[in-house]
Amino acid sequence: MIVVSGIQPTGKPHLGNYLGAIRNYVKLQDEAEAQDGKCLIFLADLHAISMPHDPAQLHASTLEMVATLVACGLDPAKSVLFNQAQVPAHAELQWLLMGTARMGWLNRMTQWKDKAGKNREGQSVALFGYPVLQAADVLLYQATHVPVGEDQKQHLELARDIAQKFNNDFASDDAPVFTLPDPYIPEEAARIMSLRDGARKMSKSEPSDMSRVNLTDDAETMAEKVKKAKTDPEVLPSEGAGLAERPEARNLVGIYAALAGQSVNEVLRQYGGQGFGAFKPALADLLVSVLGPIRDRFVELKDDREALDAILARGAAQAREFSRPTLDAAYSALGL
Ligand code: ADP
Ligand code: NA
Repeated sequence: MIVVSGIQPTGKPHLGNYLGAIRNYVKLQDEAEAQDGKCLIFLADLHAISMPHDPAQLHASTLEMVATLVACGLDPAKSVLFNQAQVPAHAELQWLLMGTARMGWLNRMTQWKDKAGKNREGQSVALFGYPVLQAADVLLYQATHVPVGEDQKQHLELARDIAQKFNNDFASDDAPVFTLPDPYIPEEAARIMSLRDGARKMSKSEPSDMSRVNLTDDAETMAEKVKKAKTDPEVLPSEGAGLAERPEARNLVGIYAALAGQSVNEVLRQYGGQGFGAFKPALADLLVSVLGPIRDRFVELKDDREALDAILARGAAQAREFSRPTLDAAYSALGL
């Protein structure tokens, strides 16, 4: 079991990142350890330069994100935590794969179409090519489990296509250079919506800070955001089916269920028939009890620059070592 996943170090990590991604990393880290596997989690700082960015801010956010991951339970003694920029094999393999990836494949990526919009000519080449870097990120380590959100499934399929064509063109059948990676989408993968609009996902890129709970918010701020969250005037139904047409209510109940480790129906067995005046304070308390300790650890770690640098340096050294055989095999297969 080789788990590989990345997270962009831009903006403040929020509840959606925690329930949809980081919490699963921690689970997979423990499963990988139990099976003598590996878990590699990286900060995608090379990806971050595909869009306009502020260099000083990028570095600060990278350190902040490491502190967050560790505070959430990723253990640098169990997992390999690193940033791409310190492991040149990522950029090297990306270039090697550029010869295999087809323009047509990249042109079909919906994220490229969304991000570029009508102004394709004005985008960086990196924005167009970064799915190839994503392929390199996972192929370098012969990943077997790649935890991704629904939004990243298409990029992982591209990684499989690149791996397959490369193996086909440059390797013999009995000695493929790359393992075809599978997406790993946990059953309970939560999709957390904005607190201000049940039709939009909670995201760092939403302008209003009231739309998301940041992992770095203090208890009062969290409670305030829940209190002000958009809802409707009805009481809660007694079963999940009753939430179908109520996206804001469904989101808040879903958050409660994910944090409590309960099903939506279990939550509604307790709160059905009650209004938000009763449910919101209970949700705020639960949020603070789960995220409070994470925030405390984060505050402790975030200014310990030396410790954070040491975690990244150690992770990078391990990642360089793990990636070496695959990188060498790729060079050699290409006659380089
Ligand atoms: P953002 O959209 O806030 O910029 P990222 O794109 O950096 O978040 O995503 C980092 C990880 O968090 C990804 O694995 C993504 O699938 C997950 N994620 C982001 N937003 C949410 C959300 N609202 N609900 C569930 N998971 C999310
Ligand atoms: Na994003």
